[in-house]
Amino acid sequence: MITIIDCGSQLTQNIARRVRELGVYTEIVPFNTPPDRVLKEGLEGIIISGGQFSVYDQNAPLYDKKLLESGLPVLGICYGMQSISHILGGQVSPTNEREYGRTKLSLTKESPLFEGIPKEFNVWMSHGDVVKIPPSGFNTLATSQKRHISAIQNSERNIYAVQFHPELDRTQYGRKILDNFLKICQAKKTWDSSKMYQTIVERISGQIEGKVGVGGISGGVDSTTACVLLRNLAENDFYPIFIDNGLLRLGEKQEVKNSLDSLGLRVEYIDASIRFLSVLSGISNPDEKRKIIGHEFVSVFEEEARKIRGVSYLVQGTLYPDVIESVSVYGSSSKIKRHHNVGGLPEKMNLEVVEPFRSMFKDEVRKIAEEQLGLPKEIVWRHPFPGPGLGIRVVGQEITEEKLDILRKADAIFIGELRQRNLYDKISQALAGILTKSVGVLGDEGTYEYGICLRAVVTNDFMDADAFPFSNKQRQEITHKIINEIKGVNRVFWDETSKPPATIEWE
Ligand code: XMP
Repeated sequence: MITIIDCGSQLTQNIARRVRELGVYTEIVPFNTPPDRVLKEGLEGIIISGGQFSVYDQNAPLYDKKLLESGLPVLGICYGMQSISHILGGQVSPTNEREYGRTKLSLTKESPLFEGIPKEFNVWMSHGDVVKIPPSGFNTLATSQKRHISAIQNSERNIYAVQFHPELDRTQYGRKILDNFLKICQAKKTWDSSKMYQTIVERISGQIEGKVGVGGISGGVDSTTACVLLRNLAENDFYPIFIDNGLLRLGEKQEVKNSLDSLGLRVEYIDASIRFLSVLSGISNPDEKRKIIGHEFVSVFEEEARKIRGVSYLVQGTLYPDVIESVSVYGSSSKIKRHHNVGGLPEKMNLEVVEPFRSMFKDEVRKIAEEQLGLPKEIVWRHPFPGPGLGIRVVGQEITEEKLDILRKADAIFIGELRQRNLYDKISQALAGILTKSVGVLGDEGTYEYGICLRAVVTNDFMDADAFPFSNKQRQEITHKIINEIKGVNRVFWDETSKPPATIEWE
């Protein structure tokens, strides 16, 4: 096992995901976890993550020096390199020449960390401070275009550090560098999501034996996989509930119903759309919308769950990134948005929480869904759709039936066009949003109508994403179709921003 010391970077999960992809099990712990809890039996190496701090910040996440003295291989990434240098007596200084984005790296000394990698390659950087003088016993392995020290090692102490981000696809040879580190650790490559499945089955079977449970199901891959697994294990003692919050896409409820029926799932469908729309009336602030939708979901779910006799557990499709967001010391990424889930419900109803995929990433769940549970491709590869639904795609304004109606049509045209052009499976997530009204002209008359924004992204893990490169012709045809077929829309905008700096959703 490799343990990642989380110093607050939003990329910490990417490191974990890469290491697992390379076949080694990994866990993330907050930087202030006591060393005796980190240095456990079976640990093969330590990775220190990046973070948005300077080592000189008052609340800089500085971990215990013992982590660097255990003799186990250590790899510091970005802030990880700066903190290792600082803790071990090197000199870290702010620079006027910040590096952000793509930069060329030149290797200046051979190292097992860079084995099989050319002398020059592109890396992704994001830092203000630099290591001016590495700690004693460390060699410089690489420099950047701006001549900053970009990688160091102390081979005797088995400590390596890089200023760039090998966990991002934007860094060339990033996977290879991480794999080289795993070789240095002599880490055993035993992690495989199919083996994980057996472990999950054993754990969950024990947890639910003889009990009755409920779970929310949306038709998305996480909740559907969790519910199919539970149905297989608990049979008729498990009750999946689908809540229509009035913020679903065109025909979505029926589509989900058809696909869940085909899986033989006996689902309770609840139409709560009027309730949701009435509590959302007049609300335009994104955070408030999320809060209200979340609360209402909990209320409706609680009312329904109470109708089932003897319910004692609640199934949630929680994934590892959700768990990490809630334990991460400074919770950097969790502050950006208030994600919608059934939080609060277990305590309120005194339910035990059952989370089969708590230690897994979405792609690992997709593998289990496809390979172990035989779920159809349409469910496994369905684009994600957020819990607050179209509510957070009525951008910066109050949600009304009129806007939802226009948005549903735009979304259906957009997704339909992607399917027809065989683009749907090449895109990780595509979405439409409705913007405020603006002035236009039709024939001899002026118009004052809504704008529609369209966005399609390609991403591995939804942590960072690039806009899908549509051709001009594709964009023009889709724009034309939306304007022609939807009354009340006079402009179409295409959002081509990557994440970061944008997020995937607009709210
Ligand atoms: P962002 O907008 O944060 O989205 O870049 C990343 C991924 O998460 C989805 N998302 C949500 N999913 N509840 C969810 O269940 C939410 O509140 C929520 N907000 C964003 C988003 O659709 C994308 O796939």
